[in-house]
Amino acid sequence: MLMFKDRVVIVTGAGGGIGRVYALEFAKRGAKVVVNDLGGSHTGQGASSKAADKVVDEIKAAGGVAVPNYDSVEDGEKIVQTALDNFGRIDILINNAGILRDVSFGKMSDNDWDLIYRVHAKGAYKLSRAAWNHMREKSFGRIIMTSSAAGLYGNFGQSNYGSMKMALVGLSNTLAQEGKTKNITCNTIAPIAASRLTESVMPPEILDQLKPDYIVPLVLYLCHEDTTESGSVFEVGAGWVSKVRLERSAGFYDKNLSAEKLKDNWGKVESFDNPSYPTSASESVSGILAAVNNKASETGASPLVRPPKPAA
Ligand code: NAI
Repeated sequence: MLMFKDRVVIVTGAGGGIGRVYALEFAKRGAKVVVNDLGGSHTGQGASSKAADKVVDEIKAAGGVAVPNYDSVEDGEKIVQTALDNFGRIDILINNAGILRDVSFGKMSDNDWDLIYRVHAKGAYKLSRAAWNHMREKSFGRIIMTSSAAGLYGNFGQSNYGSMKMALVGLSNTLAQEGKTKNITCNTIAPIAASRLTESVMPPEILDQLKPDYIVPLVLYLCHEDTTESGSVFEVGAGWVSKVRLERSAGFYDKNLSAEKLKDNWGKVESFDNPSYPTSASESVSGILAAVNNKASETGASPLVRPPKPAA
């Protein structure tokens, strides 16, 4: 059994849906849990302490350790402070809180955009930033970002939500790199689960297959001290877990590139016959430069730049 004895975990939006199940399961496995929830509606209106309190009561009734926090994730530092005040440290941060303001782009108001930005992108930033240096000091940290298929692939009516969900992938990628030397990992999940966010868009027979409990094993695994996986994106739901990565085609190179040449060679730009999978910006750039120099030497043209030296 993967245990989390005395690890201090913050789960944002833990008053319901997927977050509640994370909180219960971490507590069952020995963690001390900060159950954060603003307790508002699924479109971000109102606030109540009830949702967080209920989950804390459930954890305590089962013999676990938990404290509530009712702040919005926009005030992430207060939530981290709750962990420090009650348990003295922060080991694991699950950025999970979320709302929806679905509307087609032509009808979107600035408020629809800003609210989704504040809860998803800014909220996860504020929590992660407030927790970061405490994790660095202890040379241990596990962070989860919650993205969505709407961000990875796009979804009608969710330009605000999809944008912020993709922003979290960017944040996670860089935190994974910056956290490496301090044993801080950061991964992103794109879940699919029955909750108040999905109950109106899917039929009951599908929702039955999508219990939030199915999201929990992946997050437990990624947050365990023995797991070193970092900077990855996973789709997860209904008992299925899959890793997602960016794929880059071998592409087309011509020193004298023109729109016409591009038109004639579009198939090469699009072909994924010989792909690469950069995992950092430097790998991306060095891959492009190496490809350009290879092609240049094949065609007798003078290389634009020297390929970077391989790491010793
Ligand atoms: P949910 O609505 O059941 O749970 C979200 C919780 O976050 C609620 O309890 C809510 O009160 C809380 N919350 C909202 N705004 C908050 C704020 N500013 N500060 C603190 N707490 C706040 O929804 P669900 O489905 O459990 O969603 C969890 C996460 O998973 C969200 O980030 C959502 O965007 C994401 N997600 C869910 C999918 C699904 O299929 N259910 C699909 C893709 C992503």
